[in-house]
Amino acid sequence: MSEKHTHDVVIVGSGLAGLRAAVETAGRLDVALISKVFPTRSHSGAAQGGIAAALGNEEPDSWEWHMFDTVKGGDYLTDQDAAEVLTRDAVRAVYELEHMGVPFNRNPNGTIAQRAFGGHTRNFGEAPVKRACYAADRTGRVILDTLYGQCVQRGIHVYPELSVVDLLVRDGVVCGVVALDWATGALHVFHAKAVMLATGGFGKVFKTTSNCFANTGDGAALVFRHGFPLQDMEFVQFHPTGIYGLGVLISEAARGEGGILRNRLGERFMERYAPTIKDLAARDVVSRAIMSEIRAGRGIDGRDFVYLDLTHLGKERLAERLSDISSFVRIYLGIDPAEAPIPVQPTCHYMMGGIPTDVDGRALDVQGRPIAGLYAAGECACVSVHGANRLGCNSLLDLVVFGRRAGRHMAAQVPSMDLTPLPSQAEAPVRERMEKIKERTTGVRPAVLRERMQQEMMERCGVYRTREGLDKALETVRGLQEECRRNVFLDYRGERYNTDLMEALELESLLTLAEVILVSAASRRESRGAHSREDYPDRDDQNFLHHSLVYRDGDKIGVAAKPVSITRFEPKPRVY
Ligand code: FUM
Repeated sequence: MSEKHTHDVVIVGSGLAGLRAAVETAGRLDVALISKVFPTRSHSGAAQGGIAAALGNEEPDSWEWHMFDTVKGGDYLTDQDAAEVLTRDAVRAVYELEHMGVPFNRNPNGTIAQRAFGGHTRNFGEAPVKRACYAADRTGRVILDTLYGQCVQRGIHVYPELSVVDLLVRDGVVCGVVALDWATGALHVFHAKAVMLATGGFGKVFKTTSNCFANTGDGAALVFRHGFPLQDMEFVQFHPTGIYGLGVLISEAARGEGGILRNRLGERFMERYAPTIKDLAARDVVSRAIMSEIRAGRGIDGRDFVYLDLTHLGKERLAERLSDISSFVRIYLGIDPAEAPIPVQPTCHYMMGGIPTDVDGRALDVQGRPIAGLYAAGECACVSVHGANRLGCNSLLDLVVFGRRAGRHMAAQVPSMDLTPLPSQAEAPVRERMEKIKERTTGVRPAVLRERMQQEMMERCGVYRTREGLDKALETVRGLQEECRRNVFLDYRGERYNTDLMEALELESLLTLAEVILVSAASRRESRGAHSREDYPDRDDQNFLHHSLVYRDGDKIGVAAKPVSITRFEPKPRVY
C-alpha cells in the first residue's frame, strides 16, 4: 500500500534553491516540499564564506566585473547569457535576503560587510575585490534558517525525511515522484502538474569530500535513469582547503581574510602559480598548485598535505570572522588556528554539472527542448553559470537567483497546465527494487561497495586524470554496479528508519553518477577548469569549447555536444 498526494507542484529538496522556489510559489500554487532531511539540516547550511554580489560597499565594483570573473573562472565554458542573469540579479537578491531577515555582518556605517574571495576581481582581473557578503563563516546557515522561516510563515506544506526514489513520467511528461518515508517505511506517490528537483550535489561519489552524508545525487540519478541527459558532469570541483584526512571545509574566507598557504619549506607557494592574486586564485588553480607541491615532495614532512597559516590574523579576528572553522579545527585536530597552521588538502566540494536547465529552471532534453513538467535548480542543475569551475560564493547566489526564477516560472505556467494521469501502478518498479534487496540474506553490504567506489573515484578521477585511469575506474564502477544489482543485502530488513535500505538505494544513485562522471571525463580530451587531464594538458577551444551531455540510450550511454553561449567575453587564456 502507498499513500497518495496531489499538489500543483512538488519541490524535492529543501536547501536554498528549493526553499527560495517555494517562497515564490506560496499563495499562488499548492506546493509540497519533500526533503530527505529536516529542512534546516540541508547541506546549504554548511556553506561558510559568503554570497557574491557587486554591492560595492567596501570598494568600487560592478556586475560586469562579476560576470567577467564568473566567465573566466569557469574557463569560458560558462553560458554567458546565464552568467549575466546571475550577476545582474545578485545585488537585488542580497538586499531581498537582508529584508527577509538574514543577519549579514555590517560595516561601521551600517552597510553589509564584504570580503575578498577566490577569483573575484576588480576591473576585469586587475586585483582582488571585496564582493562576498557574509555572516561570519556561517552564511549558508543563516540564509537557510531565514528562508525556512519564510516558508513556515507562508504555510508551505513540508514532508520531512522522505527520500525521492522514482520520477513518474508518462508519455514524456513528468507528473510526479515516488518517495520513501523513513519513519514508517511507507511509499508515498506524489501526483503533480510540475516537479522541481533541488536535490543538491553528490560529493559522496568521492572518498574525501566536504559534502554531507545526504549528498548522494538522487534527483540527478533519477533524471538520467529516465533517459534524460546530464550536462558537464566531468567538472568536479575540489576545494583547496579541506581538513587533512577528513575533508571538512575550511572556508576560502580564511584566505579572503589574509590566510596563506605554505609548503614544507614555509614558502608561500601560490606566488609562483598565480603571481597577481596568489592564494585567492580560482579553486581549480589552487587545488592543482597544492597537488603539484605535494608531488614535488614539498608537502608537509613530505606527506600529502600543506599548511593553511592563519596565525598572523590574531585571536580576535578569528573569533569575529572565522569562529566556526576555528572551532572545527580545535575539535577535529586539537589545534588552535591562532597558534598553529592547519593541515589541509583538496576535498571534493561541488559539482558544476547536473540536469541541464534554461534560466527559468526548466529542465532540458538532449535536443535542448524543455521536458514537460520538470524543473531543476541549485547544485543538481546545470544552467550553466559555473562552466568548468565555480567561483566561491557564486553557489549561494545561484541557489537564490535560479530558485526564485524557477518558482516564478512555475507560478506563471502551472495554473494553466493539466494534471497528466499517473502511469499505472506508479510505485510498482520501486517496490520491486526494494523487495529484491530485502529478500537477500547474504551478499555484500552497501558500505563495502560504496567505499570501493569512493576510493577509486578519488584516485583516478580526482584533481588529475588520465585516459588509462579513467578507463580503469569505469571498469571498476561497472563491476560495482553489477555487484550492487545482484548481491547487495541488508542486515536490517524492518520498516522503520531502515538506514541500511537507505544506503543501498543511495548507492544505486552514486554508482549511476560515478559512471556518468567517468564517461564524460573520458570523452573530454583536453584540460579545462576543474577537469585536468595529464594526457591532454592544454585547453582545446578548437575541439572542446562545448558542453557535454551524457544520456542513456537503451543499454548504452550516449555523449553529445551542446554549444556554449558566448555574448560578451571571447575565450582567452586564463592567467591569474
Ligand atoms: O570556502 C567557502 O566558504 C565555500 C564557499 C562556496 O563554495 O561558495
